[in-house]
This record gives sequence, structure tokens and C-alpha cells, in this order.
Amino acid sequence: MDPVRIDVTTPSRAYAITLEDGALDRVGALLDGLRVPNRRFVASSPLVWRLHGRRLARALGPVEPILVPDGERFKLLSTVTRIYDSLVRANAERGSTLVTFGGGVIGDMAGFAAATYLRGIALVHVPTTLLAQVDSAIGGKVGVNHPLGKNLIGSFYQPHAVVIDPSVLGTLPRREFRAGLYEVIKYGMTSSPGLFDRVARDRTAIFAREPKALMPVIAESCRIKASVVSADEREAGLRRILNFGHTVGHAMEAVTKYRRYRHGEAVAYGMLVAAQLAAGRGALAEGDRKVLADLIASLGPLPPIADLSSALILEAMQHDKKIIAGRLHFVLPTAIGTTTIVDDVAVKEVKDALRRVGFRK
Ligand SMILES: NC(=O)c1ccc[n+]([C@@H]2O[C@H](COP(=O)([O-])OP(=O)(O)OC[C@H]3O[C@@H](n4cnc5c(N)ncnc54)[C@H](O)[C@@H]3O)[C@@H](O)[C@H]2O)c1
Ligand SMILES: [Zn+2]
Repeated sequence: MDPVRIDVTTPSRAYAITLEDGALDRVGALLDGLRVPNRRFVASSPLVWRLHGRRLARALGPVEPILVPDGERFKLLSTVTRIYDSLVRANAERGSTLVTFGGGVIGDMAGFAAATYLRGIALVHVPTTLLAQVDSAIGGKVGVNHPLGKNLIGSFYQPHAVVIDPSVLGTLPRREFRAGLYEVIKYGMTSSPGLFDRVARDRTAIFAREPKALMPVIAESCRIKASVVSADEREAGLRRILNFGHTVGHAMEAVTKYRRYRHGEAVAYGMLVAAQLAAGRGALAEGDRKVLADLIASLGPLPPIADLSSALILEAMQHDKKIIAGRLHFVLPTAIGTTTIVDDVAVKEVKDALRRVGFRK
């Protein structure tokens, strides 16, 4: 299949996303072509490096990878500090590049290190999870969690290039793969009925990671993210639609200490709650709500929620960054492919929606 190139053009930087089966094996040449500084460091996790490091090292030339743990629980400033330590010890200078090689956790943490080390060195993302390929590697959000809330410490720092090779997804556990698919469904719900239908239609081939089914899904997701970010880099307007499902999702992750849910799974529940809320106020047809709920259910099981109280989730939502002047902003779907942002949601409406989706009283 032909390589796909998607351009991201923001006020702070313009860069290319290269999507190609086998891109990993020519990443060095690709980065040379994009004139990315050639003293290159790699940040990865022990698991990702063990699975795919040899291919990257062969394509990039000799590298001593900086390996840090990549669970959500380790997405902390203290882990970023370990990346700084390695960069300092290796005398990395301003003209160096940090290549992140892993899922969203590695990308966000190492991206933050690149944004802040020497006030910023070149950054390249080579994402290895579906979630990172369709979402977190694009758009420049980098950062870490605070015990009281997710991603509370961070920055906007656009990469110099993004290189996506779907072949690395062959080793991704099914649950992680599914977690990424929920973000794809998010793009379908906010921006593209075609993408939404494609996931429903090609589900089996997508899960089998058949390039013919998977490539178009990744490409379309990247195009949506790239165009939204190009129009609104710093989330002053349009980009907020991509938070669909995330207000409740982030709260669920925080109250379970980032241990129970994969990020995408929490977002799946968040989308169900937002759809329930929208249907409850007549903004979304009940039929569309059901189509979304059915697609999410068809992908497989989600971890339980019945022991979590709606009051607990509501309390955690108070720490969300999306609170503006004390009001909770909600992205609500109005149909498959369109959303609206509201700031007049009453606490009772959220509680009702949470309960209807299955949270306890
Ligand atoms: N920056 C953004 O705009 C943005 C957007 C969405 C999500 N995020 C963040 O992304 C994070 C979630 O990312 P994630 O879902 O990629 O999680 P992750 O980085 O924790 O990766 C999930 C697991 O998959 C493993 N893994 C990675 N690649 C693999 C491969 N090819 N084969 C086998 N195993 C592999 C990892 O070792 C890890 O155990 C969250 O912290 C979320 O906040 C950021
Ligand atoms: Zn997300």
C-alpha cells in the first residue's frame, strides 16, 4: 500500500505525519529527508524496546535507548526526571532530537522532556499503540499526571515529525488495541459518520490488523486530528470537540488511580455518559445513542463500573482542566458525526446519566 502523508500546520510548527506499513525500517532516511537534527536519542519502554527496538536501531543507526516504565501510574514528573538525567549524562545539546518510541504514555512523558530540556529540543514521535498512532502523537499535547488529576502538568509542544508504522500493532494485546479503537469511534462521533460506519463494518478485519482494513482507519483518524489541530492548536475552540467522552473518562481514571481502566476504555464510558446526557435533554435521538452503545458493546467487554458512585465521579470532575469560570463544559453528540458544546449542564443531569450507564448511586 502506498505511503500516506498528512500535513499538520499550526502557528508554532508545521510537520508531516508519514503513515506507511514498514515505515519503521526507513525511519532514519525519512527523518534525514525531513531535515530533523541528526544527533538522535530514543526514549522507549523496556517492553516496546524488546519487541521492536532492533528494527528501530537498525534504521536509525547505533542508539542507546533511554528506557522508562510506561504504565499510566508512571506518567509522573519523577519519570520525566529520569529522561533528563540520561540526556544530561549523554551531553545532549540543543541540536539533538528525542525520538519517542512507545504508546501515549511514553510519547506524553518524553515529549514533555523534549519540550523542557534546554528549553526545547527537536521531537519525533514513532507511536507504537493504536491510541498513540491515531491520537496522542499528533497535536503537541505533552505532559504528566498529578495525583489529583490527569495531565495537569504539561505543555503544547509540536513534534518535528510523526512516523506511523501499523505493522508494530501486530504485537499489541487485544485489550490495548480496543482501547485505541474507542478513540477512533470518538472521531467518528465528532466528525465522520463514514469512519464510524467503517469501524462497525470492518470490525473483524480491523481486529485482525489487516492492512487493507486498518490503514484507512488510521489515516482518516490522523486526518481528522490533523485538521482540528491545524485549525485550533491551543484548544480555544474547535479542538474542544476532541474532548468528547473525556470529562467523565478522566474522572474515572483518577478515582481508580489509573489502575483499572485503559485510557480508551474510560473514554468509551465517558462517551456513553455524554450520549445519555444528550439523549436525556433531547439533543440526541435515542436511536443514535443506541447505535453508539451497540458499537461500543460489539468491540468487547469493558471493566466494571457498578462499584463506583456517581458522587465520586462528579467530585473528581471538579479537577478537570475543562472547567472554565467554574462551569463544567460538556461535549454532547447531536448525531453520529456532529457535536455541540454546552456549559449549562446541571449536576442532577450528570448524576442521572451516570446512573443510567451503570454507576451506583
Ligand atoms: N497527547 C495527547 O494528545 C493524548 C491523546 C490521547 C491520549 N493521551 C495519553 O495517552 C496515554 C495512553 O496511551 P496508550 O494507550 O498508548 O498507553 P501506554 O503508552 O501505556 O501503552 C499501553 C501498553 O502497551 C504497551 N505497548 C506499546 N506498544 C506496544 C506494541 N507495539 N506491542 C505490544 N505492547 C505495546 C506498553 O508497554 C503499555 O504497556 C494516556 O496517558 C493518555 O492521557 C494523550
Ligand atoms: Zn483520549
